[in-house]
Amino acid sequence: MTQETTIQLLAPALDLKAAYRECEAEFNAHGEAFLGVGAADWPAYVKQCDEEAQGIVRDPARVPQTVLLLARVAPHTPDAPQRVTLLGVAKLRHYLTPTLEDIGGHIGYSIRPSERGKGYGTLILALTLDRARELGLSRVLLTCDSENVRSALVIVRNGGVLTSEGYSPLRGARVSRYWIAL
Ligand SMILES: CC(C)(COP(=O)(O)OP(=O)(O)OC[C@H]1O[C@@H](n2cnc3c(N)ncnc32)[C@H](O)[C@@H]1OP(=O)(O)O)[C@@H](O)C(=O)NCCC(=O)NCCS
Repeated sequence: MTQETTIQLLAPALDLKAAYRECEAEFNAHGEAFLGVGAADWPAYVKQCDEEAQGIVRDPARVPQTVLLLARVAPHTPDAPQRVTLLGVAKLRHYLTPTLEDIGGHIGYSIRPSERGKGYGTLILALTLDRARELGLSRVLLTCDSENVRSALVIVRNGGVLTSEGYSPLRGARVSRYWIAL
């Protein structure tokens, strides 16, 4: 049976270190961060993600979150080993704080620069909404800078309804807030 390349969500795992590094380098070359400095110690980051996904947070300022990596997985063949290419990340916050109600919301996401404009932003949000349903959430808040037209399209395509818009002093920009019923 021929196995096909798949696009799927993966949790950060020790064996994704090389894929993480390759993707982070591309973000950094574009002046952006993929997973941020905290992921430089990959084993510690994997452990933290694993704990937080289970609701364990060690920093009282943080809410539990599930980190989801969008990955293209090419199967193992007789000529080549399995190859994982990371395409982006979504972070699903399990509940809101006053700050997250202003900016951040339940879900944040980013697609690597070379893979933008191919539908992956729309896909990663759709797949993350499935995870939010599994967590038992009945609706989720998404926020984006009002000028971020691509992100707004991703949200609206996934059922987002614009509920407020205005200047956020925390963000230093105009922010649009959308709710998605699950
Ligand atoms: C926002 C982001 C996730 C969108 O990801 P993406 O993979 O490009 O999204 P999609 O391919 O699903 O495209 C969504 C829409 O954006 C628009 N878009 C995509 N690429 C575009 C481009 N090069 N020029 C203009 N518009 C574009 C299109 O209207 C597209 O809809 P279409 O399929 O009808 O053309 C991505 O641009 C990104 O990671 N940006 C940086 C981080 C960020 O802004 N995150 C969101 C914070 S709220």
